[in-house]
Amino acid sequence: MRFLITAGPTREPIDPVRYLSNRSSGKMAYAIADAAIAAGHDVVLISGPVNLPAPRDTQVVAVATADEMFDAVHRHLDGRDILVMCAAVADYKPASVSPQKIKKTGSDLTLELTPTRDILASLPQDRQRLVVGFAAETNDVEINAKKKLRAKNCDLIVANDVSARDSGMESDENAVTILFRDGETKKISRAPKKIIARELVKIFCDAREKRLTKKT
Ligand code: C5P
Repeated sequence: MRFLITAGPTREPIDPVRYLSNRSSGKMAYAIADAAIAAGHDVVLISGPVNLPAPRDTQVVAVATADEMFDAVHRHLDGRDILVMCAAVADYKPASVSPQKIKKTGSDLTLELTPTRDILASLPQDRQRLVVGFAAETNDVEINAKKKLRAKNCDLIVANDVSARDSGMESDENAVTILFRDGETKKISRAPKKIIARELVKIFCDAREKRLTKKT
């Protein structure tokens, strides 16, 4: 299979030295890329800034902002069988970027934020391609993930609870629930991200096969 995987956080500049970002480490996405390569698949990895070595035999496309990730996904989408949107793309960016470093004045400073373009929601429909979204939630994990599955037109969504300190973002371990469009759910209990990644790659490949053989 030909995978396209997005990884890591994005950085949304405020001025030449400051940015808005999040705690995503990229570990889950890089583990999925490693597992896919180990299983003999082809991988293009579009990565925000992370401190991880590039997986072997993988084309890595480095990006920083949500806009750059949007463009990179659209550029590399063609011919990919499975898109895994694991990146924690910023939902908002500063409405304008100051060309000079913003000076401290001692009074309150208000930043105006504007929504970024949603990459998943922007994708053209294609029966050949399986689209996987991720949902990092701190509460009502399954309810919120189910809403995202529909709103973002995903075939399946991998939900994880990022409220626990020892699981999810930045951690080497994770526990996930996979939600499918037909209402089926699968749970993978707490395990190292490498083990979870191996399971996920199998689940994605099976789901892609099923999607192709389905009549409707
Ligand atoms: O809405 P939320 O950011 O929680 O959705 C998470 C999912 O949506 C992830 O798969 C993420 O990669 C994707 N996403 C996107 N474009 C954005 C923001 C998030 O594709 N601008």
